[in-house]
Amino acid sequence: MSAPKTTPENCSVVPAVAGAWPLAQRLAEQLSCPAVRSVEAVSSPVALFVDHDDLWLQQRAMEQASPVRVDFASPGLQHRRRGGQNELLGRAVGVKAGQRPSVIDATAGLGRDAYVLADLGCTVTLIERSAVLALMLEQALERASISAIASVRAAASRMRLQSRDSRDYETSQETVIYLDPMFTDRRGSAAVKKDLSVLQALHGNVDNEDEQLLAWALAQPVRRVVVKRPLKSAPLDSRKPSHVIKGKTVRFDVYVL
Ligand SMILES: C[S@@+](CC[C@H](N)C(=O)[O-])C[C@H]1O[C@@H](n2cnc3c(N)ncnc32)[C@H](O)[C@@H]1O
Repeated sequence: MSAPKTTPENCSVVPAVAGAWPLAQRLAEQLSCPAVRSVEAVSSPVALFVDHDDLWLQQRAMEQASPVRVDFASPGLQHRRRGGQNELLGRAVGVKAGQRPSVIDATAGLGRDAYVLADLGCTVTLIERSAVLALMLEQALERASISAIASVRAAASRMRLQSRDSRDYETSQETVIYLDPMFTDRRGSAAVKKDLSVLQALHGNVDNEDEQLLAWALAQPVRRVVVKRPLKSAPLDSRKPSHVIKGKTVRFDVYVL
């Protein structure tokens, strides 16, 4: 993985057990976040809990909700790999018989879509600018590479991580760029809403950044750019896609270059 970015985030690092305090301090320094000894002392919107072999996020405003983890072998993600939406995502990036494009997931987040693409057989470069999320992805990939589930190990072998702003990344062999910007009117399961809520609390979003990201993507030497959008919203930056693939709650705007 490239060197982690050190942009401060709305996050404190908390040891999940007393013995993890030195680890929490080390990670806090690496992430440029405060380390606090107990959850009662957290004043930031999000806490990153660390144990010797696990990491998870908890949003203060949603203390009752279950924690957010990156775990490619989780039952939720294993269930999703059988769902119809994966087929749509695969079609959007150009998966077809004998064709498995290499994809840059330029908004990797919790790695859910990247995993689906890797599981479909694509090689995927995950780029994430949040140092906290990049750390979680890095550890999840390490765990996935030694998973007891063969398909998880196979998908992990097709994923590589870059901790940086995508707009600083030079595309080389990849043929497709995939963008999933942080739109707020997201429908779907409570789990999807909880994940989005923690991502927003952690990093927020800056006006026009998604438009800039699309402009960067369209200027790269790739064959297509795919943007996930809410089903009924306008195209990002009002740029008309070449074609659209619609699901029940989201659609994929495909720009063939
Ligand atoms: C909605 S989330 C993506 C969720 C992801 N598709 C998944 O399946 O888990 C958007 C993510 O993009 C990241 N992001 C936004 N702009 C970025 C940029 N310019 N470079 C890298 N990451 C970026 C945010 O930090 C956030 O984690």
